Amino acid sequence: MMITTMVDLAIDLAALEHNYHRLHRLCAPQVKMMGVVKADAYGHGLLPVARKLAAAGADYLGVGSLEEGLLLRQAGITLPVLLLLGILPEEAERAVAADLDVALFRPDVAQALAAAAGLQGKRARVHVKVDTGMGRLGVLPQEVLPFLAALKKMRHLQVMGLISHLAVADLEDKTYTHKQLGEFNSLLDAAREAGWKLPLSHISNSAALWELPEAHVGLVRPGLMLYGSPPSPDRPPPVDLQPVMSLAARVLQVKRLPPGSSISYGCTYTTPDWCDLAVLPVGYCNGYSRLFSNRGAVLIHGRRAPIRGRVCMNLTMVEVTGIPGVKAGDRAVLLGRDREAVLSAEELAGWAQTISYEIFCALGTANLKRYTGV
Ligand SMILES: Cc1ncc(COP(=O)(O)O)c(C=O)c1O
Repeated sequence: MMITTMVDLAIDLAALEHNYHRLHRLCAPQVKMMGVVKADAYGHGLLPVARKLAAAGADYLGVGSLEEGLLLRQAGITLPVLLLLGILPEEAERAVAADLDVALFRPDVAQALAAAAGLQGKRARVHVKVDTGMGRLGVLPQEVLPFLAALKKMRHLQVMGLISHLAVADLEDKTYTHKQLGEFNSLLDAAREAGWKLPLSHISNSAALWELPEAHVGLVRPGLMLYGSPPSPDRPPPVDLQPVMSLAARVLQVKRLPPGSSISYGCTYTTPDWCDLAVLPVGYCNGYSRLFSNRGAVLIHGRRAPIRGRVCMNLTMVEVTGIPGVKAGDRAVLLGRDREAVLSAEELAGWAQTISYEIFCALGTANLKRYTGV
């Protein structure tokens, strides 16, 4: 399709829906699914993604901040929503008023939530976050039972379950992941023995959803795979995932440079021979990393055109020597498919020594999004 803007970041919601159903099929029927839509749905756009997941049948949504949770409510989304980062005590009143579930790991937040829920005549739903080895948020394993015991006195809190996060579930070697899971399961047993019902505990990200059915517990929390990207780029997942995000741009200028010509800031590339150069209106202000300089490539007429010189703030130069007939106005694909050729988020991530998550967040935050398959 010919695009009418210089830069076109497209989000294919039909692909998102496809991925949701493929992932759902990897789980037992009773396992619920939380679509992780934090960070503006990994750059794909919070509300359109949340609406599509809700329509596809998602049971829960997971966001980062209270603000994201409130945006969902203001948009009329009534699904249960979990604030994965928890809240500040001063946010308790608004979280309870909006019926948002909270990841809980601080006693002061528990108090604030219980107080707010009491005043509003409600029970605030909390998921007690346990650090089983991620070394990030959460109550340490030995503190879980005392933490729960303190919550028992707060009758305006409803403890939904224990939750935890896996550090290396994407690795083929699952030794550490099994250790985390073992710790999690022992804590669940101990809490149940202490009388807790824990109707909804969860620990599985995309990687565990795919490779560790024993970790599905009551609910899985995929993010990355919903957006069509495999957690382990070196191992294809067992389901066909469709990329949701793609990026294209129109060629602004084409010219032929003689041998010995320098390209872009810093003169980091000098043409060894005659070079047909295409200039693209995309740069690091579009989230297109400067680390792609002299490393990455784009697709033009279904062929690879390597990036020459440094990526600038809003321009990038690519060599189209040997690709016949490239002219100003042609479409270049920077992420996605062009005829038989594909540039995946994992490949772009490799050029910048990062992960596809960061590519999505960077591109999605910096560009206007065009939605298809709504
Ligand atoms: C707490 C939590 N759960 C689930 C996820 C989803 O992980 P993934 O995108 O690898 O599926 C994330 C994402 O980082 C997370 O922070």
